[in-house]
Amino acid sequence: MDESLIQTINKLQDALAPLGAGSASPIDLPQITVVGSQSSGKSSVLENIVGREFLPRGSGIVTRRPLILQLINRRGHVDNHLTPEEKATIRAKNDDGRPSEDTDQEWGEFLHLPGKRYFNFDNIRKEIVRATDATAGTNSGISSVAINLRIYSPHVLTLTLVDLPGLTKVPVGDQPKDIEKLIRDMVLKYISKPNAILLAVNAANQDLANSDGLKLAREVDPEGVRTIGVLTKVDLMDEGTDVIDILAGRVIPLRCGYVPVVNRSQRDIETHKTIRIALTDEKRFFENHLAYSSKAQYCGTPYLAKKLSNILMNHIRATLPDIKLRIEAALKKYQQELDALGPEMAETPSSIVLNVITDFCNEYTGVIDGQTKDVSTNEL
Ligand code: GDP
Ligand code: NA
Ligand code: MG
Repeated sequence: MDESLIQTINKLQDALAPLGAGSASPIDLPQITVVGSQSSGKSSVLENIVGREFLPRGSGIVTRRPLILQLINRRGHVDNHLTPEEKATIRAKNDDGRPSEDTDQEWGEFLHLPGKRYFNFDNIRKEIVRATDATAGTNSGISSVAINLRIYSPHVLTLTLVDLPGLTKVPVGDQPKDIEKLIRDMVLKYISKPNAILLAVNAANQDLANSDGLKLAREVDPEGVRTIGVLTKVDLMDEGTDVIDILAGRVIPLRCGYVPVVNRSQRDIETHKTIRIALTDEKRFFENHLAYSSKAQYCGTPYLAKKLSNILMNHIRATLPDIKLRIEAALKKYQQELDALGPEMAETPSSIVLNVITDFCNEYTGVIDGQTKDVSTNEL
């Protein structure tokens, strides 16, 4: 995702964190969710967006529990306040015993294993598989109990993505007869939220008119204001066929349009092809393809990321006036408390705290004014 967007939003989220007072963060970014048939490439698309490999992918039903993935931007020595003993405890819990205080490290942490940091992303995938088997069994069973994973990294936007099981019709293995409805309800729970962005994922070698993902997306977002169509497996289409008609909106039009992508194939996964190389290959595929070469800039994962960034930016822009009001209200409240203390209290520790808060609010009112201007003059 665009580094400058990441920086701008992270700055705002950091600045406003003290006002959030726990649950209600002032900048509540939309959750990115996926909807589509089994093996359409949902996990692959999410992984490409994050740019790290840690999600189980493959043919058949692999994603069998919702995975709520919180990306958390971290910079600096966050553990500097810890005592040497506390650091040693964290190190002992790490999956590979690494020190945790390096600035540029990325790690994952599961809600069900608090304090254990995974620096090796292969181990994250293994734990997702293990936790899935533990709750949903090993014979294709599914569970609506979500796995919560946080990824801490200096390179991500503080944002939530949700990976979901694919829509399916015929029960296999331990799946109950009503598997279709079960998964549908599970997916609906996440994609119905008004602040969810839907990636409606459809394999390009499957008929779009039969796309269950698109059908469900239309049910919860009939205007198509928060649905992006993603066409995967463009590399697997029959020779002489392409998705140009879909992109041009001549098949099933979507207001936010479609983005064709090429993810890693099953063979690429088995031979450990990296995301970086996969992205280079994807670029080359679209640039060299007769049907896509003239529109290559509107194809591929980078364009999908750009579309997502624009939607997030628009969301921030729409939220800023409200954030400003909240800061002004906080400022007023603190000023009143300060006044109530009277002049003789002016130098007590508590008034010093209030002064700090007041300064803070003043400063960030300025930041937000600046941001409002930046964002509105920046044509997206
Ligand atoms: P999900 O079930 O929708 O989450 O799909 P996965 O991401 O697990 O992918 C299912 C299978 O399709 C895996 O074997 C992937 O390697 C493969 N796959 C996904 N996207 C593409 C693509 O664009 N091209 C090719 N050739 N294979 C893909
Ligand atoms: Na799959
Ligand atoms: Mg999946």
